[in-house]
Amino acid sequence: MKEMWNARYSAETYAYGTAPNAFLKESLANFPVTGKMLFAAEGEGRNAVYAASQGISAYAFDISEAGKAKAEMLAQKMGVSLKYEVGAFENLELNAEQFDAAALIFAHFPPPLLAPYHQRIGQLLKPGGLVMVEAFSKGNLPYREKSPAIGGPPNTEMLFSTEMMEEHFAGFEVLQLEDVEVTLSEGQFHNGTGKVIRFVGRKP
Ligand SMILES: C[S@@+](CC[C@H](N)C(=O)[O-])C[C@H]1O[C@@H](n2cnc3c(N)ncnc32)[C@H](O)[C@@H]1O
Repeated sequence: MKEMWNARYSAETYAYGTAPNAFLKESLANFPVTGKMLFAAEGEGRNAVYAASQGISAYAFDISEAGKAKAEMLAQKMGVSLKYEVGAFENLELNAEQFDAAALIFAHFPPPLLAPYHQRIGQLLKPGGLVMVEAFSKGNLPYREKSPAIGGPPNTEMLFSTEMMEEHFAGFEVLQLEDVEVTLSEGQFHNGTGKVIRFVGRKP
């Protein structure tokens, strides 16, 4: 798994581009964040770098060393700084209730792992903290079959539903939750029309 991501991020170009994910950018405009924000499975850093450019103190993590190197290059190019740890969700050694917000952008994991990972994100947020999630919907499969360039996991177990968000973030105030068709233009790997789950929630 780690080898696959390191290989993908070893290319000179950015796999998902250097611009932030459109939903993340829009969510930060709709629900402004000040303070510390966690970027889980952040890859080459496009979202954390954008947040840092908006004055947010960005803390990213990912299993990929190559991802970290690309993120640091992007941060330097954009004249911002960010913290980036190489590490896995399951090994996060972070204190609870320290983040004002968290972003999970296309952070897909097998079913036994996903709910505990989301619960861990919930623990790391301060009361009142925001979580912003965009991930491919179970409804993306027909889009992917028709047009593979949209990307996303090929198997339904790894895909998201609105019910999963309600369950994994039970007790959160739901500020936005939708299963929606979108057109993505993100580097080499997310291009075309597909279906995503978008969730913004506030921890009580
Ligand atoms: C589709 S990429 C998304 C990257 C980034 N969020 C973005 O939108 O540009 C999924 C990322 O999950 C990371 N990943 C996979 N397993 C992980 C784990 N157990 N803990 C942390 N990150 C992981 C991969 O290295 C990869 O960067």
